[in-house]
Amino acid sequence: MKGVILAGGLGTRLHPLTRITNKHLLPVYDKPMIYYPLQTLVNAGIRDVMIVTGGQYAGEFLRLVRDGREFGLRAVEYAYQEGEGGIADALRLAERFVGRDRLAVVLGDNIVGGTIRASVEAFQTQRRGARILLKAVDDPQHYGCPDIRKGKITAIQEKPKKPRSPYAVTGIYLYDSSVFSVVRHLRPSARGELEITDVNNHYVRKGWMAYDVLDGWWGDAGESIEAYLRVQRMVAEYGANKVA
Ligand code: G1P
Repeated sequence: MKGVILAGGLGTRLHPLTRITNKHLLPVYDKPMIYYPLQTLVNAGIRDVMIVTGGQYAGEFLRLVRDGREFGLRAVEYAYQEGEGGIADALRLAERFVGRDRLAVVLGDNIVGGTIRASVEAFQTQRRGARILLKAVDDPQHYGCPDIRKGKITAIQEKPKKPRSPYAVTGIYLYDSSVFSVVRHLRPSARGELEITDVNNHYVRKGWMAYDVLDGWWGDAGESIEAYLRVQRMVAEYGANKVA
């Protein structure tokens, strides 16, 4: 299985912090933000990782992560995303790297207290499709939010005004290589981006979407400045990427 970290975007929700750097390079307690998703992948047994980023500060990722060996990676590759086409658009750049393998995608601002290993292992025995990780939160309206009936996801809404469950769809997604053809057939959303939620809804409609509820705490450090602070407090108090 390959790992892909999406670390592009303008990080406008964290302005002015992101005026002079990429969001994923900002400190989260004692480390740069991107260290956490890298560790999440390594702890799940993934050794080949691609970082997709873009913009003015893309070169800083190379200076920081270098060949990835320090993290226990076999190899790290980099892809440059031109423009701001959204999460699913960034994913396209990983197609050649992933080939026919399966992939774990982690948004570069998503940080976990524990590990995703059990889900990665479960996905390896899943016949096809996708698997997402959910977490109950106080503010599901700020995230992708699933509608769950009789234990199955029937739809995912992106930042719904009236969430139909207490769960957020975390920015950790497991796909087989069919995801690249799904992305190719997407149309831009109202905000002009290719949405990862549309990718996931494709698998929901096909009946090929599985999910797990993540153990341990989860945070999206890029969601707002409050969330950024909250995540740092969680890291300081409870630690991140703890292996049981
Ligand atoms: C993205 C996804 C959203 C998901 C979130 C998790 O939102 O679109 O479905 O719940 O990441 O971090 P964004 O942070 O890009 O607004």
